[in-house]
Amino acid sequence: MMEKSTCEVILQPIGKHIRIPVGTTLLDAARQAGVELVAICGGEGVCGTCRVCPVSGPVSPPSLTEQAELTPADLSAGMRLACETEVLGDVKVDIPPESFTTPQRLQVEGQEAPPELAPAVAALDVDAPPPSLDDLRSDLTRLREALPDPDIHTGLPVLATISETLRRNNWRVRLALRGDELVAILPPGEGLYGLAVDVGTTKLAAYLVNLENGDTVAKSGAMNPQIAYGEDVISRINHANQHANGAKTLQGRLVETLNGLVDELCAQAGVTPGQVVEAVIVGNTAMHHLFAGLPVKQLGESPYVAAVSDAMEIPSAELGLCLAPGAVIYLPPNVAGYVGADHVSMLLGADLQETAKTTIALDIGTNTEISLFHGRKHWSCSCASGPAFEGAHISDGMRAAPGAVERVRIDGEAVQVHTIGEQPAIGICGSGILDAVAGLVKAGLVDKRGALKGEHPRLVPDDKNSAFILVPAAQSGTGRDVHVTRQDVNEIQLAKGAIRAGLEILLVEAGIEAREIQQFIVAGAFGTYLDLDSAIAIGMFPELPRERFQQVGNAAGSGAKRLLLSNRLRQVATEIAQAVQYVELAKHPDFMKVYVKALGL
Ligand code: FES
Repeated sequence: MMEKSTCEVILQPIGKHIRIPVGTTLLDAARQAGVELVAICGGEGVCGTCRVCPVSGPVSPPSLTEQAELTPADLSAGMRLACETEVLGDVKVDIPPESFTTPQRLQVEGQEAPPELAPAVAALDVDAPPPSLDDLRSDLTRLREALPDPDIHTGLPVLATISETLRRNNWRVRLALRGDELVAILPPGEGLYGLAVDVGTTKLAAYLVNLENGDTVAKSGAMNPQIAYGEDVISRINHANQHANGAKTLQGRLVETLNGLVDELCAQAGVTPGQVVEAVIVGNTAMHHLFAGLPVKQLGESPYVAAVSDAMEIPSAELGLCLAPGAVIYLPPNVAGYVGADHVSMLLGADLQETAKTTIALDIGTNTEISLFHGRKHWSCSCASGPAFEGAHISDGMRAAPGAVERVRIDGEAVQVHTIGEQPAIGICGSGILDAVAGLVKAGLVDKRGALKGEHPRLVPDDKNSAFILVPAAQSGTGRDVHVTRQDVNEIQLAKGAIRAGLEILLVEAGIEAREIQQFIVAGAFGTYLDLDSAIAIGMFPELPRERFQQVGNAAGSGAKRLLLSNRLRQVATEIAQAVQYVELAKHPDFMKVYVKALGL
């Protein structure tokens, strides 16, 4: 009998890969990958809950059942029922958040520096005289003349609301003024709010902030919907360049998700989107450019330059973000092609703008941005650390989602693992693979070059190399071993080598040694969950007293909130971007030597 051919299914946004026979339904593929989708009718095609969106690769055409269960709008947007859709080749599928049985882990918490309260938009309460047969001035004129300074300007979106708002509120209104620009006309007493968002390549973190007292009144997160079009920055840039309307699609999907987050935050706080009068959006240079509709082709080609590095202010209506009619979006400055506004925001979030201490601050991702402050000078670089810490290029890798191994301890023959959500293991995320490699190094089960060696009951031959079993098949959520291979160890070596080499080159530039680092700030989602001892054990971070390290969470998000509340800090952001000495690692004479040394375990 001929064996059925197989194909690969990639389940996004969690980054889980599974090889299955052609003809398997997407619901069964997800189950075999250990990923639980909502499927209330158990796959009978009658509940409509197992919605997924195949984004590339061949699948069966919509069945009659799907045509009955899904709306024409859903179908034309590519939405399908996982229990009805058969996989006909290698396929990538986007799973919307509501189709997962367990919520994804989204990091919105960050260490908070004290806010400075001097926002760009302020409230002014006004009583305008109502019109009469003796007073036929226009609504705008009577509003202007009721102000201490009548010289205000506004655009059509705000003017469109003026007449109804004045009449509905008996001519008493609250104006949101950005200098002399009228941003919104609100009912009296309504609070003014701002939106701060950290647009990560993988995840979004959004905050609603009261502009009058600085309180964060709501926060939420979402996966970046652009993942469906490419896991990393380069593949998104390629999508933007190689597909008709590719950039528009990426921008549209992001704006759509941001609008959903705005609605969610407003509902949490009991306010309306019309009260959100200002926004700050931070992201790496590619996310920044894709959001703003700037060209990205040049970002994907050496020498990787930004189209715009200055801070920008864009009317929210121009980008389709549904806030107050005259709301403005502030985008902080970028430093370079691969050190973006999110890094500037992270430095502000960690309150490093005036630090006198010798400080390293880094945010680990596919690109790891590192800053070094020393003697009132500031250097930064970007390291191509790759996606291994996001679970990509790791044989059982996945993003930090329920069922991912996030902690590993190897103690003699005992192997302890902890999974996110304490669910049966279906893969390994960044902090888990870091711990696993560190554990193998400490146990003497891996040599300097990353080859697995020695004797251990969990060390078994793989196809070509050996592999270390973290979770045996009988205990996993997939019915297969969750393991670490030599190739995985090598991927982690490349990632940690790139980070350590970048760090060492900045130290060379400053003429200091690692032991002189007085504080070591680790920001970002992976940085929050990584185990410092593991990072030091594999040589990714230098051996320093532990009290010098601080894991500050989503500092880029905290920085965005500070920028929302303080015009002065916006000026500081520009000064940081102008003062930093950007170090291009690729052309640094010492880089290769330092990198090769940093690869060893
Ligand atoms: S599981 Fe009910 S329609 Fe697919």
